Amino acid sequence: MAAVSARLPEFPWNKLEPYKATASAHPDGLVDLSVGTPVDPVPDLIQRALVEAADSPGYPTVWGTPALRDAISGWVRRRLGGSNAGHRNVLPVVGSKELVAWLPIQLGLGPGDKVAYPRLAYPTYEVGARLAGAEPVVYDDPTELDPAGLKLLWLNSPSNPTGKVIAKDELIRIVAWAREHGVLVFSDECYLELGWEADPVSVLHDDVCGGSYEGLVAVHSLSKRSNLAGYRAAFIAGDADVLAELLEIRKHGGMMTPAPVQAAAVAALGDDTHVQEQRERYAARREALRTALEAHGFRIEHSEASLYLWATRDEPCWETVAYLAQLGVLVCPGDFYGEAGERFVRVAFTATDERVEAAVKRLG
Ligand SMILES: Cc1ncc(COP(=O)(O)O)c(C=O)c1O
Repeated sequence: MAAVSARLPEFPWNKLEPYKATASAHPDGLVDLSVGTPVDPVPDLIQRALVEAADSPGYPTVWGTPALRDAISGWVRRRLGGSNAGHRNVLPVVGSKELVAWLPIQLGLGPGDKVAYPRLAYPTYEVGARLAGAEPVVYDDPTELDPAGLKLLWLNSPSNPTGKVIAKDELIRIVAWAREHGVLVFSDECYLELGWEADPVSVLHDDVCGGSYEGLVAVHSLSKRSNLAGYRAAFIAGDADVLAELLEIRKHGGMMTPAPVQAAAVAALGDDTHVQEQRERYAARREALRTALEAHGFRIEHSEASLYLWATRDEPCWETVAYLAQLGVLVCPGDFYGEAGERFVRVAFTATDERVEAAVKRLG
């Protein structure tokens, strides 16, 4: 039997281990800015909703409780400006990473089909294509792709790793191209609430999609917005036919969001205050790190949104990783996201205020 893992790229994080060991030897300890994992508490109202739903002996439904569908579709209308979203336009999923990785298989894609994603991108888009045996294709401008055989087009705005935002006009142009060529668009918008110098727009916004979700699905996650990465709470929204098909497959496959997590997600989506509070924490950390890095000779590109600074010293990324590791600061090499990132590092601002302050002091 051929190992499926043989289709996949090497798990990149293993390569960072020696640098982590160096950085951890710093007398004042490691400042880990390499991963975008939330470190602040889960907001109380979300914890309470989880606990109140702890007595959940029965199986949850794949489509989610009516309350969860209300919460998701209401949020899509209110926050994304997708005014026609109803229950048939939403589907909860167990983590957006899991969705990204297994979507091509669930769409029935395989050899001969192409899956496209940005040249610099979150690695799981490629993993999903390879798990399905489909052909991964990268793009600079999706409308320059050959649409023949192209079955799934990933957009990611704001982008991981660069923090770049696709402007509304650009989204309109891409959506028109995809519809003209019958290409299904999945738009990963998990950093949409984290715009700093730009206001990210969803593909489901009325101005972008014209009020119809045909051929469009947006992917959202509560991991970053609500510090819920440990809960695995995400959802997709958009084209009712695509979602109905995925619901059917997922019912057979048993991909149910746990009932207490569904209840927690309802609480999270109904509250904007904790999102604003978390944004303020990140804005302060971002500003402190950006100032310190620039004063230290780094150049920051893009980074107008998301949880990352895309930084360079105009040298190979592994030299920058090694240099910062000597200061006890661990960052992520840009080549984890594609060759085009080989002279950049991605600096996450998901560390505590105390650790961010330590990094700033060491860069000073
Ligand atoms: C672009 C992008 N999509 C999806 C995810 C996955 O998020 P989650 O699985 O926590 O919902 C991440 C996580 O870092 C990401 O950067």
